[in-house]
Amino acid sequence: MKQEAKKQALSTESYKGVRDFYPEDLAIQRYIFDTWAKTAESFGFERYDASVLEPSELYKAKGAQNEEMVNEQTYTFIDKGDREVTLRPEMTPTVARMVAGKRRELTFPLRWYSIPNLFRYERPQRGRVREHWQLNADIFGSNSEMADVEIILLASAILKGFGAKVKGSDAKESDFEIVINARKIIPEIIRAILRRENFDAIDEEIGKFTRLLDRRNKMPQDDFDTQCIQIFGEARAKIVKANFYNAEAGNLTEIMAELESVRDLRLLTEKLKVLGVENVRHDSELARGFDYYTGTIFEIFDTNPDNRRSLLGGGRYDNLIGLFGGDPIPAVGFGMGDVTMRDFLETHDLLPKNLQTIDIALIPMKQEYALEAEKIAQTIRTAGKKAYVSLADKKVGDHIKQAEARNAQSIIVIGEEEITSGIFTLKTLASGSEIKGTISDLLK
Ligand code: HAM
Repeated sequence: MKQEAKKQALSTESYKGVRDFYPEDLAIQRYIFDTWAKTAESFGFERYDASVLEPSELYKAKGAQNEEMVNEQTYTFIDKGDREVTLRPEMTPTVARMVAGKRRELTFPLRWYSIPNLFRYERPQRGRVREHWQLNADIFGSNSEMADVEIILLASAILKGFGAKVKGSDAKESDFEIVINARKIIPEIIRAILRRENFDAIDEEIGKFTRLLDRRNKMPQDDFDTQCIQIFGEARAKIVKANFYNAEAGNLTEIMAELESVRDLRLLTEKLKVLGVENVRHDSELARGFDYYTGTIFEIFDTNPDNRRSLLGGGRYDNLIGLFGGDPIPAVGFGMGDVTMRDFLETHDLLPKNLQTIDIALIPMKQEYALEAEKIAQTIRTAGKKAYVSLADKKVGDHIKQAEARNAQSIIVIGEEEITSGIFTLKTLASGSEIKGTISDLLK
């Protein structure tokens, strides 16, 4: 009988790749969200939100796609009304839809942020899960490169706000590194390299190559080479390999020196430097997997090799909102994930120790004093302090252990004597020191 009951018991495991948030996990997540929100608001960003459900077509439009994400990673189903629905895998199409929908009423430029949960059917691994939260911070309606500067400055300020250390431009000395590139640079380099050998490439080939570059770290070098040949054919693939992704730095540097977009990126880097953001490196192979990026693109990486996944990714996407009709509205922003953020904070020992504290635990010596204790707790709460009444019918020592487990700062033991005299003893748990007085004296 017992065996059978055991067999039928429901699993306590959560769905594969998603997380339960027990109080200590939620406390960490809240700390992360609060720091994100506080920093974004200090830059004048306003918060928005939307539903997790979106019509699937939102992710399929040409120019809005991330091929791998749409084809392999979305949670998509047909609802009872025969509509194809997707659990949002990212926030950018949603916010673009929202901005486009109210374009006449909104006063641009906008600075908007949100902390949505997103769903991607990925293989769960360190830094990658199937439901994650992401701070999305975007500026809409500004063409100025100062918007790009501000977005990267905000990302850097958030990490510094968590206590991450940055030492000059030497990535090895800093906890994180900002890697930047521009969408135009990849096609410009490919075309310049091929032109030297009297070849050219069409946009479609370069688009495919950009998406391949984005997945480079996820595949063996041979597979990458083979797919490069599939895109460009043998002759051109050989030139691309020799002069770009396996290039001797000299050759590539010479080609890049002539490109306007590389010069723009250098100016951006200089402006960031003026604002104290120096841990920036240009990587001409940084691709970003989304078709909608049009200008600056960037990712931030933990310099600790245990956390290979990016902390955030973003860029400028000037044409996405135009897909909803009307003139395009320029936009730039980033998404910063909670999973990699927590890994980062744990790796660098940046998480505050006691995230959940109670100011005062009230311990009735007998259960019959619990009502009186609850009355005292009310007075304490009215004074703006956190207090609870210990409920278990246990020895005082057990109550104290429980108070310590809950990170209570102080305790007040309540017995008959205290109730009749109205004089209580407040004991600070960390130091063991005690003070006596009426509740209002103690609250002072
Ligand atoms: P993304 O690069 O796909 O960009 O994601 C941004 C960040 O979200 C990543 O750097 C990572 O921290 C986190 N992230 C992504 N996928 C997962 C996952 N499966 N598990 C855990 N964390 C993950 C975007 O989503 C763009 N829409 C960002 C953006 C906003 N661009 C402009 N504005």
